[in-house]
Amino acid sequence: MATLTGNTPRHIAIIMDGNGRWAKAKRLPVAAGHKAGAENVRSILKRCKQVGVQALTLYAFSTENWQRPALEVKALMVLFSDYLDQHIQTLKDEGVRVRFIGGRDKFQAALLKKIEWAESETAHNTSFHLTLAVDYGSKWDITEAARRLAERVAEGALNPEAITEGALEQELALYDVGFPDLLIRTSGEYRISNFLLWQLAYSEFYFAKELWPDFDEAALDKALMSFAQRQRRFGGRDNNEK
Ligand code: IPE
Ligand code: IPE
Ligand code: MG
Repeated sequence: MATLTGNTPRHIAIIMDGNGRWAKAKRLPVAAGHKAGAENVRSILKRCKQVGVQALTLYAFSTENWQRPALEVKALMVLFSDYLDQHIQTLKDEGVRVRFIGGRDKFQAALLKKIEWAESETAHNTSFHLTLAVDYGSKWDITEAARRLAERVAEGALNPEAITEGALEQELALYDVGFPDLLIRTSGEYRISNFLLWQLAYSEFYFAKELWPDFDEAALDKALMSFAQRQRRFGGRDNNEK
């Protein structure tokens, strides 16, 4: 595999979209598409580690995805559970810290237990951060952050003047991992679908035409090469421009 040169993103976030269309094109049930999608995570994670990316955040299930047919939702929950069973030991041995962002009150007890187990098993790892966004929605994330600040104000522990961008940001998902440098969405859709609205304020965006199960290491390399050519200005001027 070719070595990549230039800037590497420290943190990549991916909207893993297109499992349904992948299955449909192959005349397979939608669950088979989700299964192929879950299997693709391994090689993308591996390639990220190879090229020096330190954090990967994957959008696996949105707050809106509960609206899907019950059978599909069930298949996805089973897949999340199987994924943890199959991969946590290896991820642990490889130094990957696994965490979940999103609500936790809608999962069945057994899945919740497994999520907590996966997080505690890998809690001491520091070499790579894998964050799985499940029952995640950015509107939920920001609302929860606002509520936590409001609670502190109500307790008298926080002055409303102390509610700054920095204070709100600290309450958001991914604050401790750092916000994504690069957002990738697969399947040729050009929207954000309630993912990390605040955290992506200055991320670079890359839209890939491949459906998620077909988004392989070569496709990721193309995204990385595109990122390497970007100039991030964060609203300022380039270094050599006055
Ligand atoms: C993404 O694939 C995975 C989830 C949303 C869980 P989709 O299931 O949205 O795939 P398409 O968009 O229907 O092809
Ligand atoms: C976004 O994909 C959510 C995930 C990939 C988990 P969707 O397929 O749910 O998004 P929309 O409905 O096309 O915007
Ligand atoms: Mg979709």
